[in-house]
Amino acid sequence: MTEAFILSEYIDHHPGLAIDQRDMAAVQRAFDLIAADGETETQTPPLVPAATVQQSKQELENTIYFLARAAQIYDEGTGNHTRRVNEYSFFLAQTVGMDTAFCEEIHYSAQLHDLGKISVDPIVLGKAGPLSETERQEMDNHTIYGHRILSQSPNLAMAAEIALNHHEKWDGTGYPNALGGEDIPLSARITQIADIYDALRTARSYKPAFDHETARSIIISGDARIDSVGHFDPKLVEAFSDTHADFDRIWRELSDG
Ligand SMILES: [Fe+2]
Ligand SMILES: [Fe+2]
Repeated sequence: MTEAFILSEYIDHHPGLAIDQRDMAAVQRAFDLIAADGETETQTPPLVPAATVQQSKQELENTIYFLARAAQIYDEGTGNHTRRVNEYSFFLAQTVGMDTAFCEEIHYSAQLHDLGKISVDPIVLGKAGPLSETERQEMDNHTIYGHRILSQSPNLAMAAEIALNHHEKWDGTGYPNALGGEDIPLSARITQIADIYDALRTARSYKPAFDHETARSIIISGDARIDSVGHFDPKLVEAFSDTHADFDRIWRELSDG
């Protein structure tokens, strides 16, 4: 039986994690959604053996996992999207030669890219039709909301920069700050490719699930919706192009089916 998670109690025991009232209500609502979710009983977080790690590290990793899962359930339901994004990002970071510390950090940080959606107005988040300009702005603000929550903890610095920057584009036409090129943190540039590859493989209300070959082609060459050259870091696209079969492997290993 999963114990109820009381965020206010958690924060009382972690004074460094000061969360804005609005975000706190949203995070608690999301945890309550997890508690109501039938899969919770069968899905356990990826625990590291207690004997080999400090209690605080294990607790942090569990909390991060549940935070990411809360955001995903609130946004688009259950499934392994966030776990797959962790794995693609870890793999891509290794492929481009990042050091162990970076790879380990992105391995648990990437899953929090859309955490800020738990602070987006639920009416806007759940709206089926096209969004007004104001609603679009509120939706885009999930980047800022996520950063606001995550930047409260020094342990989550990379997660905070990913949350803020994962919708920036290489050509400077993204949001929220229209950063371009290497001004966009590498962690966010990596997570963006991971996130979009996985979204392409997944059926959404506006698109079918694409097979690996189609998703590979869109990341490398673009399509009507995605301008690959303007969107992604070209060095990362090259690394993806060299290793794309591993993305398909991760997709199949952590499939939702
Ligand atoms: Fe996002
Ligand atoms: Fe995502």
